[in-house]
Amino acid sequence: MVERHLAKVDVVSSNLIARSIFFNAASQPLINRMFVWSKLSAAQWMDAWEERFSGNPNLVIEMVKGGKSIRIQLFCNTREEADAIVSQFGGSVRKMANAEWNKPVAPPRPLKVRDVFVLTAEHRPKELAAIKQANPKREIIVIPPEMAFGTGDHATTSTCLRLLVDVARSRKGSNWTVADLGTGTGVLAIAARKLGSGETFACDYDPFAVAVGLRNIKRNGTPEILMQQQDVLSWKPRKKGYDVVLANLFSTILIEAWPVIAKSLAPKGDIIVSGILATQAWDVFTAAAAHGLGFTKVIKKGKWVTAHGGHLADLIESETNS
Ligand SMILES: C[S@@+](CC[C@H](N)C(=O)[O-])C[C@H]1O[C@@H](n2cnc3c(N)ncnc32)[C@H](O)[C@@H]1O
Repeated sequence: MVERHLAKVDVVSSNLIARSIFFNAASQPLINRMFVWSKLSAAQWMDAWEERFSGNPNLVIEMVKGGKSIRIQLFCNTREEADAIVSQFGGSVRKMANAEWNKPVAPPRPLKVRDVFVLTAEHRPKELAAIKQANPKREIIVIPPEMAFGTGDHATTSTCLRLLVDVARSRKGSNWTVADLGTGTGVLAIAARKLGSGETFACDYDPFAVAVGLRNIKRNGTPEILMQQQDVLSWKPRKKGYDVVLANLFSTILIEAWPVIAKSLAPKGDIIVSGILATQAWDVFTAAAAHGLGFTKVIKKGKWVTAHGGHLADLIESETNS
């Protein structure tokens, strides 16, 4: 799964998928993901490439001029990692210059979620003030494009956000707790806090994502979120669980993680899951049912499926009068 927003690289289409490397407060690169494997392919193979590297957060696919071709890029930490991909799929490897990460980027259009949020990459004070002025009744969430998933541009994130707004409405005033598993930029946890959640936990196994997420929770005025580097598969959720569990993860990870996700959901809890390719939805939901989880709302956007549900035991209504 890759996001299509804007590029830090020399692409020519506006329908781009990219991520940029991130910098700490002193504008130093945090980690060197400095080798880029790339290959050109016909646009018709986009889905195949996306599925081939499904789960790798460092994949970037760009449309190139005319939309007939795509450039697939994988950002790697070492040359060995990049060379191994060449030996399997061909293509070439180049070393990135630090300067490439510093190119200014144009922020994508703000994204509106229900009548509640505007998500924007814009963080320049003047431009941000203009967005606020144009949307006086909406909360603004600022997520600059960095080396983590979750700017809101991807169908999975935006659908999770919409469902989260609905869940928050039904829980208004109840100090509901949240676990955001695979938090990426932290966008869902940030939205939850702005919607009135109480204790809010967020985790990602990718240290890049956690670094980005920590910056985002600060910049969005939601520092109470407890954000940790944690693999969901080895996570030990607290006994009482969370009222709302958000898991925009890949199908394969969801299937493995259902036991822990089921444990992390409090009785009468709401679960919102995404990252499921439509072709894999049946397997994902069948595996969830084996752990007592069911889904009452399933939304397909493009090839991605997002769903809202809970414990099967809570979804089955008992009829007391005949
Ligand atoms: C599709 S992104 C979702 C990001 C964000 N929550 C959103 O909705 O846009 C999936 C995230 O899950 C993380 N992830 C994948 N497998 C994981 C695992 N086993 N444990 C924790 N995080 C994981 C990835 O690093 C990535 O940031």
